[in-house]
Order: sequence, then structure tokens, then C-alpha cells
Amino acid sequence: MNADDARAELKIPEVSFDELLEDPHGVYRKYRPLTPVIRVGQNHYVLRGKDVLDLHRDKRLMQFESDMMCHRGYPAEGNMWTIFSQTVLMSNGKLHARRRAPAVDAFSRRVVAKLTTHIGKEARKLAAGLPRGRAFDLVEEFASPLTGRIIAHIVGLDPDNWRQFAEFVYTITTGLTPPFPADRWPEIEDSAGQFLSYIAKAVEDRRSDPQDDFLTAYIDAADEAGEMSPEELLVQLAGIVIAGSDTTRAGIAVTAGQLLEQRARWDAVKADRSLIDPAIAEAMRLEPPVGGSPRMTRAPIEIDGITIPEGVPVDLLAISAMRDPELFDRPEEFDLHRKDHLKYHMVFGGGVHRCLGEQLALAELHESLAALLDLAPQLELAEARSPLQGFTAVRIVPPLMVRQDDLEMSGAESASAQLAREG
Ligand code: HEM
Repeated sequence: MNADDARAELKIPEVSFDELLEDPHGVYRKYRPLTPVIRVGQNHYVLRGKDVLDLHRDKRLMQFESDMMCHRGYPAEGNMWTIFSQTVLMSNGKLHARRRAPAVDAFSRRVVAKLTTHIGKEARKLAAGLPRGRAFDLVEEFASPLTGRIIAHIVGLDPDNWRQFAEFVYTITTGLTPPFPADRWPEIEDSAGQFLSYIAKAVEDRRSDPQDDFLTAYIDAADEAGEMSPEELLVQLAGIVIAGSDTTRAGIAVTAGQLLEQRARWDAVKADRSLIDPAIAEAMRLEPPVGGSPRMTRAPIEIDGITIPEGVPVDLLAISAMRDPELFDRPEEFDLHRKDHLKYHMVFGGGVHRCLGEQLALAELHESLAALLDLAPQLELAEARSPLQGFTAVRIVPPLMVRQDDLEMSGAESASAQLAREG
């Protein structure tokens, strides 16, 4: 770094991990009008909406690759290394394109439509069976089993065993959220190893018994391209499961939680189902399951007089950008009728790494909410909702304690619940 870079860097305010863990939205709200970038250790966090949107497509930024994981203090060996060093998310250029292509093909409109019907049935069965007359955790009783069962179905595992491998995935995800959890590393490594073995078995089964589903479509697309090693293929499937599990269950929790927080919101969506998708968009704008996208600078980047030097980690913070008053009117307000949502929701990132599972995630969120509104319409918060934990990357979902009274359902609701339970 030359003297100019060093001087420019001095102008960037430094914020501690602890401050951010305590109140991420408060910290970003405070600094956003003052500076386009803050520093957290070695990381440079980009705060403002327009900058985050522009930088998602800027060639001066590249995705972290495996060796760069060392910046975060991760060991360069073992099962997590196998995943980091080969996953689509951590690759650039042609390698990224060839790792991404089979999944784009396999998530065809037809496959997603078929999956959506399946998700609707699963969501209704779970919603119909939710406890009555006592407080319970909607994450534990609904969001986790639903996303676990769906992702099991997608990668060809037995949905009834969802809990077994979902635990692996949640453990792996804790290794993706800073600060680096060194004390939990052996457990994370073990989960990653067992999880890769599960996927290997599912792929082997599908190769010998092809079906009309995502996994077969994925294996076919990868075989046809002929460019991936067997291990690389497993890692891509593992990556899809990891990317699509915690994120989607957090999305379900933040949507239900923010609607239930104000009864009028819940009732409005119950009365007008065309508000389901706007509710999902608004809930994830205010409480995104993924807070930001990590990148590295290939060249210095100047923003409003501040220079981010070459060769440093940067986070493009959707979590801050989506509350930027320059981008959204009354950004802190939950507005079911908001007119200024972006065409491409920032919660799914941007540029070449934009979320591969966006359509599937939105279908899962839509079907979940519709099922809850139909079959658990009296749901209410039993305790104040806690915000998601974490200030960038994948955020951790806390319990969402709710209850529904043991009241009589209306005739129509009760018939519908009976049908849903019978599957
Ligand atoms: C609400 C749920 C979800 C959210 C908020 C979300 C968010 C994101 C974001 C922000 C990225 C870009 C990360 C970056 O640029 O560094 C991403 C990438 C990705 N997502 Fe999602 N995601 C969700 C659900 C899913 C689902 C259900 C799947 C698959 C079943 C999935 C698969 C992926 C994959 C494979 C990538 C990597 C794409 C690439 O690098 O080219 N995601 N997601």
C-alpha cells in the first residue's frame, strides 16, 4: 500500500465486531450518512444503496477464492476446505460459469413449478399440525422441518431423515458467519464430512435409478457439460443445500414474525392474498437472511473521496443498502404497499453470483405464508420477536415464539386442516 492509500484509508471509520453484533442496523444507520465505507478489522463494509448495486457488477471486485479464506482465519485443509475450494460461490470467471451452469439448467421453470406443488403440500401438512393452546417455536415446528424436508427432497435424501442432515448444514453455516468460530471448528469439520458422504450416496442412488426431479436433471446437465470432477459435483450439490437451508428458514421466520408483530399487517395479508409477495419482499428488505456479499478488491476503488485499497476484503452490505433513504422512501417502515421495491431484490445479491435458488426460495416463502394464513390464522406472537443475529453474510435465526388458542376453527378452516393433515 502506498502513502496515498494509507492516508485515504485513515479516513474510513473503524467499527468493532461487538458494536455490530449488538445492533447492526443502528451502526449502519449512524454511519451511512457520514461515510460510504466503514472498516471492521481488515474488512471494508460498503454501506450505501447505489454503491452496493454498482459494485455487484464491478470488475475491480472478485469473489473470495479458497486461498483467500485464510483472510478469515480458516484452516487450508479438511472437509470445509474441500467445500470452500470447489464451490460455485467461491469461484471466479470461467470456473464459476462452468460450476454454475448445470444448476441453472436443473432449476428450470418446469422443475421449480413441480417443486412448488410439492412445497405447498408439505407446508399445509406442517401448518395443519401446529400445536394449539401452548406457546411454541415456529422455527422449530414449521420453518426448519419445511426447509429441511424440501431440500432433502431436492437432493434425493429421505425427507423423514431431514433432521439428521439439517443439523450438519446448520453447523456448517455457523462456520460461514463471522467472527470465525475457532472453538467449534472440529464439530464443523465433522459435519461437513458426514454431509458430503450423505450427498455422495444420494448421487450414487440417482445414477442407478434416474427420476424426473432436480437431482437427476442436475447430474444429467453436469454429465453433458463433462467438465466437473465427481468431487466437484458433490460440492456443488452440498453448496446448493447449504445456500438454500438456513437462508430460507430465516426468510420464513422474518416474514411471519414481522407480520405477526402488528396484527393489522397479518390480517391485511389474510384478507388479500395478493399481499403475500409484497409482504415477503418487505420483510426481507428490513431483515435480510443474508446481510452482504463478501468480495476482494483487484484494484483500488474510490467512492466519494475514500479509497478502498487493492487486495483487501470488502463486504457489499445489502442489509444496510436496503434501508438507505436514497434508495427507499421511509426505509425503516414496513409498508405492504411499497412502490419502490427494486426490480431485482437486493436480498438475493447481484451480478454473476446472484442467488441461483431465488425462484425456489420465493416459492417456498409464498407457500409457507399461504399455508399459515389458511391453517393457523389465529397465530400470534407469544414473545417479542428477536432480530436475526449477524451483520453480514448468512445471518442466524433465533426462535420465534408463537401460540394459537385451542379455539374452534371455522367449518371451512377445519375441513381444510383435515385435508392438509391427510396429505
Ligand atoms: C431467502 C432465501 C435466500 C436468500 C436470501 C439467498 C441469498 C443469496 C445471496 C445474497 C447470494 C449471493 C452471495 C454473494 O454474492 O456472495 C446467493 C447465492 C447463492 N444461492 Fe441463495 N439465497 C436464498 C435461497 C437459496 C436457495 C433456496 C438456494 C438453492 C436451493 C440457493 C442457492 C444459492 C447458490 C448456489 C448461490 C451461489 C451462486 C453463485 O455463486 O453463482 N439460495 N444467495
